[in-house]
Amino acid sequence: MLNCSLIINRLTPTSQTLLITHKPHLLPPNQSTVRSMSSSIQHQQQVQSVSEFLTLIPYNPPSWASKLNPIPSKKFNLGTFPTPVHRWNLPNLPKDCERDDLSGMQLSGNKVRKLEFLLADAVAQGADCIITIGGIQSNHCRATAVAAKYLNLDCFLILRTSKLLVDEDPGLTGNLLVERLVGAHIDLVSKEEYSRIGSLTLTNLLKEKLIKEGRKPYVIPVGGSNSLGTWGYIEAIREIEHQSGNGTIKKSFDDIISACGSGGTVAGLAIASWLSELKAKVTAFCVCDDPDYFYDYVQGLLDGLEAGVKSRDIVKIENAKGRGYAMSTAEELKFVKEIAETTGVILDPVYSGKAAYGMMKDMAQHPTKWEGRKILFIHTGGLLGLYDKNDEMASLVGKWRRMELNESIPRVDGTGKMF
Ligand SMILES: Cc1ncc(COP(=O)(O)O)c(C=O)c1O
Repeated sequence: MLNCSLIINRLTPTSQTLLITHKPHLLPPNQSTVRSMSSSIQHQQQVQSVSEFLTLIPYNPPSWASKLNPIPSKKFNLGTFPTPVHRWNLPNLPKDCERDDLSGMQLSGNKVRKLEFLLADAVAQGADCIITIGGIQSNHCRATAVAAKYLNLDCFLILRTSKLLVDEDPGLTGNLLVERLVGAHIDLVSKEEYSRIGSLTLTNLLKEKLIKEGRKPYVIPVGGSNSLGTWGYIEAIREIEHQSGNGTIKKSFDDIISACGSGGTVAGLAIASWLSELKAKVTAFCVCDDPDYFYDYVQGLLDGLEAGVKSRDIVKIENAKGRGYAMSTAEELKFVKEIAETTGVILDPVYSGKAAYGMMKDMAQHPTKWEGRKILFIHTGGLLGLYDKNDEMASLVGKWRRMELNESIPRVDGTGKMF
């Protein structure tokens, strides 16, 4: 068995050690990975150790979630958690921001939390490959492709694109570069085919084909948003509670705000905030479909956990779709640019950018509703998707010039030659 380790520096203030094995999930559980509930909570306080990253560990839910059913029995450690919460100096609006975009590198964003549970289930079921589906710049598909490779599983992606591009090489922009670097198999379908056939049938078709070829595929739905994936954001609330408890976060929150694209993130945040002591009001800004669709979808996820609560009672869903999924208005892109320039935080154009834009608009339109409230915005990642907007962003980013030099400037050596 290949067994080596390497140190990589993360964007977070810590560094992390990566344990690489041929079949990390086949490592037998040992003293350090089999943990009691209390040691699991202690773990939240610590940076993951060498033995924990990429290992399959027993899962114990927070006590307030113990009535949900089914409770997963295992999860992988795939992300860099806890993610930091910091003050976000939005113009005129003090606010805090949970940086789930810093949940890892190639694996960054909100999807990692769901994949920790979904891939544990895939391995438990003896899968040798993963199938999932999404838009051409799906962050979920990229995160799944990377996570699968970390665990030595093949990954098959069905990506939706325009009918003009469906027969062409999809290129290497943004998430596609990462997916193709890690060797994901890509099947393209047109938007028309996707809406005519549906994501469930498309993934099942590929599943049947792979089974006939002797493979053991495991299907993850769009965005990883099923009831099992919802546990990822139940855990995120436990993490926030813990950060409040140990003083990392100095305040409690009245509101938690997040983007909503397939529903799992907001379902987890909402049920966990409601069940736990946090009791923050969860507001989701949806970037596709419409609020009614998501109230129903989230209801299905909650019913799948026997939560016994109505989605409309625990989450407010607002529309932030704008021109449509993954389509930006000039105003939204200008907003992304302004937030980057004023706060240093890069939002993505498809999810967190639209959610933050929707939030700011709502605050401007209904100032009394938000006055004095302590708000936590969850930055769910998606930076790679920004590369797909290069052309549209070009006119917004300026500030470059040819350096003025004249022939008579004498040469003085600096460090390194660089040529
Ligand atoms: C960067 C990013 N943020 C937010 C979301 C929305 O999360 P969810 O799909 O769980 O609603 C997604 C995926 O859809 C995403 O990729």
